[in-house]
Amino acid sequence: MPDKQAPHAADADFYHPADFFFPAHRHVALTYDDVTLATLYSEVLPRDTQLDTVLADGLHLNIPILSADMDTVTESRMAIAMALNGGLGLLHYNMPEREQLSEVSRVKNHIHGLIQDPVKVAPDQLIGEVLDMIEKRRFSFSTFPVVDSAGKLVGLLPGHVVKPRYGKRKVAEALTPRAQVHTVREKELGTTPIARADKFFTDHPGIHKLLVVDNTDRLRGLFTMSDVERITQERNAQFKPARDSHFRLICGAAVSATRNAFGDLDRERVLSHVGGLVERGVDVVAVSTAHGHTKGVGDTVRMLRDAFPTLPIIAGNVTSAAGVEFLAACGANIIKVGQGPGSICTTRIVAGVGIPQLTALYVTSRAALKKHVTIIADGGIAKSGDIVKALTLAHAVICGGLFAGCPEAPGQIMEIGGKMYKQYRGMGSLAAMKAGSAARYGHTANATQKVAPEGIEALKEVSASVDKVLTQLVGGIQSGMGYLGAPNLTQLRQKARFIRVSTAGEREAAPHDVVEVKTEG
Ligand code: XMP
Repeated sequence: MPDKQAPHAADADFYHPADFFFPAHRHVALTYDDVTLATLYSEVLPRDTQLDTVLADGLHLNIPILSADMDTVTESRMAIAMALNGGLGLLHYNMPEREQLSEVSRVKNHIHGLIQDPVKVAPDQLIGEVLDMIEKRRFSFSTFPVVDSAGKLVGLLPGHVVKPRYGKRKVAEALTPRAQVHTVREKELGTTPIARADKFFTDHPGIHKLLVVDNTDRLRGLFTMSDVERITQERNAQFKPARDSHFRLICGAAVSATRNAFGDLDRERVLSHVGGLVERGVDVVAVSTAHGHTKGVGDTVRMLRDAFPTLPIIAGNVTSAAGVEFLAACGANIIKVGQGPGSICTTRIVAGVGIPQLTALYVTSRAALKKHVTIIADGGIAKSGDIVKALTLAHAVICGGLFAGCPEAPGQIMEIGGKMYKQYRGMGSLAAMKAGSAARYGHTANATQKVAPEGIEALKEVSASVDKVLTQLVGGIQSGMGYLGAPNLTQLRQKARFIRVSTAGEREAAPHDVVEVKTEG
C-alpha cells in the first residue's frame, strides 16, 4: 500500500512549501489572490479541526480572528461579540482615555458566572435617578440589588417597577424586601458555583436572580439565570468564548504613542492610561501605528514592557524582518503585519510604500520564528479563503471591512437608494485623524489640515450579525484545513503548499458564466 502522506514527485515539482515558494518568487510581491493552496491527502473532517491559537503567554484565542482597532469597527459591543465567538476585539483609541477604560470594563463585566460587583442602588434614591443611570451607562438590565451605606442587603428593586410612572418614588417604597429575596451564602457556593446556581434556578421556577451575601449579609455578588444558562450551553459549543482565568471575556485595547507639547513621548500619560486599562482587566494592548519600525513605537513598547512585564503587547505595523526583530527586541510579543493592504487604505498610493500581504507575511514570519514572537495578518482580508492563506504563515488575522457592516460595529445605519449602509473609514482618513488617530500616522492632531490622508471614508452595506459573519468565516477556514488534512493551525502552517495563479486562473476561481441565485439563510 503506498504511503498516503508521501508527496508524489509530480506534486512536489509544482506545489511548493513556503520556504521554497516565496524565495523562488523573490522578484515579485504577492498577495492572497496571486496564489492558491494545493489540496493534500486528508483524514480530517472540517468540523473536527481545532482553530485555537496562542498569541502570547496568557493570550489564548479559540478562533484566530481579531476585529480591527478602528473607530467604525470595534467598541465594546463588537469586542463582546468577538470574544463570545472565541476571538478578540481591539478597542480603538479615537475616544477619550476614560471612555476607553469604561469600554474595557463593559467587555470584562459582560457575562460572569458570578457578577462580583453588581450595580447597586440605595434605598433613598428616586426611581427616576435609577432610570437616568440606566440610560447614561447604557445598561441593558433594570433589576438592581438595594444596599445600605454599609453594603448590607436591604432588598431587590425589580425591573417591572423601574418605570417613568414611578419616577418620583423612592427605591425603598418599591423594592422587594430582604426577607423575600433569594440569597446564598458565599461560603455555600463550593467549588462549582455555576452548577450550584443552575440547580437553584431549576428548583425555583420563575426566579431569575440569586444574590450572594457574606456572613454579615453584605452583598458579595449576583447570579442571573440567563448568564448561567448561556455558560452552561457554552460547554457544548464547538468554539467556546475566549475567556481569561477569571472566566471573563477577553478584550484588547489600542494605545496611542501620545506626545507632549515638546514632541517627546508623553511617558506619564501613556503609563497611567495603560495602568488604568490593566486595572480594568485588559488582556492585551496594541501599539498601533502605520509604521511600527520607528524610534517612537520602539520607545513606547520598551516603556510598556518595563512597566508591565507580563502584559501581552501587540505592536506594528511592519512588513520587514528587521521591523519584526526590532519590535521583538523592544518587548512586543505579537507583531502586526500589513502596510497598505486594507480595504480603505491609500498608503501605497499616497506614500508609494507597503508590500502585498502574502510576501510580507512570509518575510516577517521567518523573523518571528527566530525571535519567538507571533504575527498577525492585518488588512486586505476579503473572504474566508484569504484567511486560510494568511494562516499558513500567521497566527491570526485582523479584519476591519468584513465586520464594519455588522450591527455590532459602531455607527448609524443610513439608507441610500433603498439599500442600508454603515460608515467605514480608514484611521488615516481626514475625518478619523481629526477625531484623534493622527498620531497613528505620525501627525499631530491639530496639523491634520496640512497632511495627506492615507485612508478613505467609505460605506459598507449592512451585513448580518458578527455571529453569522464569523460562522461563515470559520466554516471556510475549517474547509480549507480539511482540504489540506490539517487538524490544527500548526499543521496548516507546516502542510501548506503554494502555487502561483494566472489571471485566467483567478477568473476561474470565482463564479463565472452563470447568473447567481441566492437561497435566504
Ligand atoms: P480591512 O481590509 O480589513 O483592513 O478593511 C483593516 C486594516 O486596515 C488598516 N488601516 C489603514 N491603513 N490607511 C491605511 O493605510 C488607513 O486609513 C487605515 N485605517 C486602517 C488597519 O491595519 C486595519 O486593521
